[in-house]
Amino acid sequence: MTSRKPMIAGNWKMHNTIKESMELVKGLGEEIKDLDKNAMPEVVLAPVFTSLSSVNDKLVECGCKKMVLASQNCYYEPKGAFTGEVALSMLKEFESLEYVIIGHSERRQYFGESDEMINKKAIAILANGLKPIICCGETLEQREQGVTDSHIQKQITTALNEISAEDTAKSVIAYEPIWAIGTGKTCDSTEANRVIKMIRETVKNLKGENAANSMRILYGGSVKPETIEEQMAQSDIDGALVGGASLKADSFAKIIKGAMVKAAV
Ligand code: 13P
Repeated sequence: MTSRKPMIAGNWKMHNTIKESMELVKGLGEEIKDLDKNAMPEVVLAPVFTSLSSVNDKLVECGCKKMVLASQNCYYEPKGAFTGEVALSMLKEFESLEYVIIGHSERRQYFGESDEMINKKAIAILANGLKPIICCGETLEQREQGVTDSHIQKQITTALNEISAEDTAKSVIAYEPIWAIGTGKTCDSTEANRVIKMIRETVKNLKGENAANSMRILYGGSVKPETIEEQMAQSDIDGALVGGASLKADSFAKIIKGAMVKAAV
């Protein structure tokens, strides 16, 4: 039995100028305008920093609250001499921004984000009244070595350090096997569900059953309109973190619609 509201989040990564972002959000608005909000999953858009303001204004102006925003990153210090970083007080200025993605494998790989840093970010995000989407996942090498579960357990245990059960329940985890990101090679949905169940068990051991059962855990990695229904049919997959297929209004709308069966249950 679950009462977790499904979530479909689009991570636009380093794509889209302001103009392109506005075209995408407008197109998406058109595609989903006839959908019943109560039957929809929670839809989250994560544009680049430079597009957040314009997309936020558009969402506020439309007033339909069918989509909310996530930032792709943040810094944990409140302000100061941290050139190039963005503070949570600045992200909170956007009325429709509710989530911050942290620990994406691309940030870990290219920008040296460590589990400890991700933990500091998660604590700061929650302290500011926002919710983290904490990414985790294994490389192909780790999978082949049979260390997938232990690697992810470590990522999650460190990321949730000193976070209360109540705050854990509000947080979201995205399981993104690195070998499935941007490769077209989707992880088999029963295997994705197995790993997600293992993550939920880890959360239960750390923070208790209530937090584990309330927390949404998404799958990410080459999610497409053709894969979403099977993924959502799995017991523990609460939604998707979508990269490439979130960059086109029609394919992202198909993914949202594909998740509606579960959302309506
Ligand atoms: P793709 O959907 O392009 O594989 O990207 C997944 C991802 O990294 C989302 O954060």
